[in-house]
This record gives sequence, structure tokens and C-alpha cells, in this order.
Amino acid sequence: MQFTFAATAAAEIGALVVGATEGPELLPAAAKCERTSRGAVGRALESSRFKGKAGQIVEILAPAGLKVTRLIVVGLGKAEEFDAPAAESAAAAALGRLKGAAETEATIDFSGLKGAKLDGVALAAHLAFGAKLKTYAFDAYRTKDSDDRGLAVKKITIATGDVAATRKAFARLDAVADGVFLARDLVNEPPNVLSPVEFARRAKTLAKLGLKVTVLGEAQMKRLGMNALLGVGQGSERESQLVVLEWRGSRKKTAAPLAFVGKGVCFDSGGLSLKPGASMMGMKGDMGGAAAVIGTMRALAARKAKVNAVGVIGLVENMPDGKAQRPDDVVKSASGQTIEVLNTDAEGRLVLADALWYAQDKFAPRAVVDLATLTGAILIALGGEHAGLFSNDDALSQNLALAGKAAGEPVWRLPLGKGYDKLIKSKIADMKNIGGAHAGSITAAQFLQRFVADKTPWAHLDIAGVAWQDGEQKPLIPSWGTGWGVRMLDRLVADNYED
Ligand code: BES
Ligand code: MN
Ligand code: ZN
Repeated sequence: MQFTFAATAAAEIGALVVGATEGPELLPAAAKCERTSRGAVGRALESSRFKGKAGQIVEILAPAGLKVTRLIVVGLGKAEEFDAPAAESAAAAALGRLKGAAETEATIDFSGLKGAKLDGVALAAHLAFGAKLKTYAFDAYRTKDSDDRGLAVKKITIATGDVAATRKAFARLDAVADGVFLARDLVNEPPNVLSPVEFARRAKTLAKLGLKVTVLGEAQMKRLGMNALLGVGQGSERESQLVVLEWRGSRKKTAAPLAFVGKGVCFDSGGLSLKPGASMMGMKGDMGGAAAVIGTMRALAARKAKVNAVGVIGLVENMPDGKAQRPDDVVKSASGQTIEVLNTDAEGRLVLADALWYAQDKFAPRAVVDLATLTGAILIALGGEHAGLFSNDDALSQNLALAGKAAGEPVWRLPLGKGYDKLIKSKIADMKNIGGAHAGSITAAQFLQRFVADKTPWAHLDIAGVAWQDGEQKPLIPSWGTGWGVRMLDRLVADNYED
């Protein structure tokens, strides 16, 4: 897809996308269409009860008096509520209408929008970003022609008052979109293809962007005492891996990095505590945290972020086998703490325990953010609208909440506390890997906190509800894997940690 920006986007071919705020108040390009069509556009809007509300959309084919073959009028809601995520959704929704259509070119012209939360340059850049995110498709395994489903559009032109500044703003977002696409690809990839070793191989290809990529195998992890992670993978035919991605973009090359830690369970069968069939479906996506971390690192490198950041990704496959870990086993983690494994399906926290240790021991990071599809309970609590946030640090939590809101990937903070921590006391070891029936997402987070130094600002994002989209799709998410986290972590870095 080619994105171009132009001061006057006078569209004469293909599809033209124009906007209206609530009322409807037609923006200049829409008003112009209304005039050239001698009121035909207005009649179409009226007959569709179009009020310019956010999400409303009217499509007019072969509009009378206009040269374009298709006019799409998008409702933008109240101008004063219109922000970057709203711009992205509007562009994505419009592009969604072009699925299966024959037009090869589209023009988006929302210029003249006043009183919005973003200026004209940001508006145009975020329209392009939303459109780009919408073009994502995972078709690697289709052998039949997808002409009728696909997007024929090859070129999108977006109106802006300042072409050069918009190009610059979009270049940055373009890098983020590529990170989102990488994360989506990894989540969508089937588990017979995406083993821990294959994930690590793909990570190594990012060295071309200036990332330092280190991969540890089982022997190296064994030497480091990472038995909690290794125990999860020991029932698999595939070798467990630890992937470390380093980006040193700060002027102070030796400054302590920000650390992102990801759960990379390439397939979660539950292990000997085997999941029932229906719950096992989709567990190829149990590496969504790892995908978000690698996607974020790719984005930071591609846009040459002025920050030092490191991604630590624990990759395993959780399988039942004669060699598999048993419920009742006790393992000693790299931190020295012992864990009674009472349920082999609570494996993500075991992987993260050692990955968190590695991140802190090797990098002494200024802050740690881990991402994991950790608990089914977070779906019960928050559904697919928010990721669960757990943290020992109010400032980091606040920054994550703001970044999530700005990026359209919101989080909701849940509590931690001594009372919850008691629920993971073990009768024979330092802790057990499950709590009781209640507060499952919190006891999982309490477990992780035991592997984080008190003085290190740390946040855990439980993304089990947001890493993939099962049912009705949202405008910005054309595939099953969402790539959740890349956009918000990029924002977190940009707003708080860059030079
Ligand atoms: N990967 C799952 C969590 C999950 C569930 C992600 C549903 C996405 C959708 C995790 O490893 C798991 O199995 N958690 C258990 C924990 C329990 C055994 C304490 C769960 O949530 O049931
Ligand atoms: Mn599990
Ligand atoms: Zn899991």
C-alpha cells in the first residue's frame, strides 16, 4: 500500500472518503460534494438517518455529479472528543468498506476539522496509520484466490495542510505499524510452524535494524539455574529458548534500560493438567506477550527511538509427555526461590519468573514491564476492552494508563496486597503456582511480584483478553491476532523515556 499526502486532495477517481461531525456538520470536502451533487449527497445522508455520530458511515455508489466512483461519508462524532484513536478507527472503518470493491485508489479528506484533540498534521498521519493497520491480512496459508475478500486499493492519498510534517509524523507511525504486524503474524502463525526455535530464528532477523539479538538454549539456561522456565518446556520435543533483544538508542549508551519481558508459550496444552479441547483452541496465541515485546522492540529500532530498551522473551511449548513436569513437582527458580507446581497449566508465571530474573540480573533496568496472556480470569474481569494492569509503582501505572488511552489500547489497574500474596503460600516450598478459586489474575500477579526487586518499578499487563479478537471484529483489527501492546508501549517510551 502506498500512502501519499497532498495539500489539495481533489479526488477524481476511485473512492473518496469525507467526514462530518455530529449534527451532522459536513467538513469542507463533504460540503463540496454536497454542492457538486446538487443535494444528492444530503438526501442520501438524510435517508440513512446520518447524524455524524462516531462510527456512522454512509456509502454512496456512483454519486450523481461527482467523478469518483464511490463516496464514503464517515461520522466523526463530537469534534472536541475526536483524538488519535478516533482518527485511526475512522480511516479503518472507511477502508473496511472497500473490501471486495474494485477501486484501486482512495482519497481521505477530513481537512478543516476544527476543535479536535489533534492538529491537522497528526490527524492526517493517524488516518494513514489507521488505514495501514486495517490493511493487515494473514493469508500465508490460503491457497485459493482471495480476490473477492481482498482490498484492491493500492494507493491512498490523504489531505493535509503540511505535507512534509505529515510525512515525518507518519514515518514514525509506519514503524510502529510494522511492529504491530510482526506481533500479529507471530500470534496468527500456527504452532506446528512457530516453535520456540522458529520464534528465535525470526527474532534474529531483526539484527538488520540494529538490534542486538541473543538467544539462549536449554543448556545455557540450565547453567543459569532457570529451572522454572525449563520445567514448563520439558514435556515438549521442541527446545525452549530465551531471546534477548537490545536497543541502545539513547545518547547515554550505558544508561540503565527499560526492560520488557514477554510470556512466549508457543502452545499451551496445559501440560499434564491438560486443558479440555475447547479451551485448548487458540492456545497458539499464548505467546501474545512475547509478540508484543518483539513488535515493540522492532518499532523502537525502526524509528530509532532515543532510548535504551531490552526485551527478554521466554519461549516454551507446554506439552504432556512421559518427561513432562508433574503437578506436585517442586522446582528451584534462577532467583533461588522454590516453587511447588500444583497445576502445570499455570505455566506462564513459571516462564516469567525466570525471564524476570534474567532481565533484572543482567540489565539492572530502570523499570520492568511484563506482558503475558496469563489468566483466563482476566477475561472474566475485563473482557476484551482493557488489559489488566498490576504494579508496585503509581507513577509507572499512571504513565501506562495514559499511554494506553492515547494509543487506543487501554489498561485497567487491579490491586496487589499481602492478603492476596498469602493465597500462594505452599506447604512445602517457598510458594505454589496457583492460588484458590478466587482472584486468579491477582494471585498470578502476586506470584510474579515475588520475582521483582522491591526497588524496581514494575508493571505486569495481563493481556489474555486483548491479545486476540475472537468474536466481532473492531475496525482496527482485521485479523485474529491484535498485536496488542506495541502501540501503547511505543507511546509509553515516547512520552516518558526518550532523551
Ligand atoms: N494461557 C492460559 C491463560 C489464558 C486462558 C489465555 C484463556 C487466554 C485465554 C494460562 O496459561 C492458563 O492456563 N491459566 C490458567 C491458570 C490456572 C490453572 C490457575 C487459567 O487461567 O485457567
Ligand atoms: Mn496454561
Ligand atoms: Zn498459558
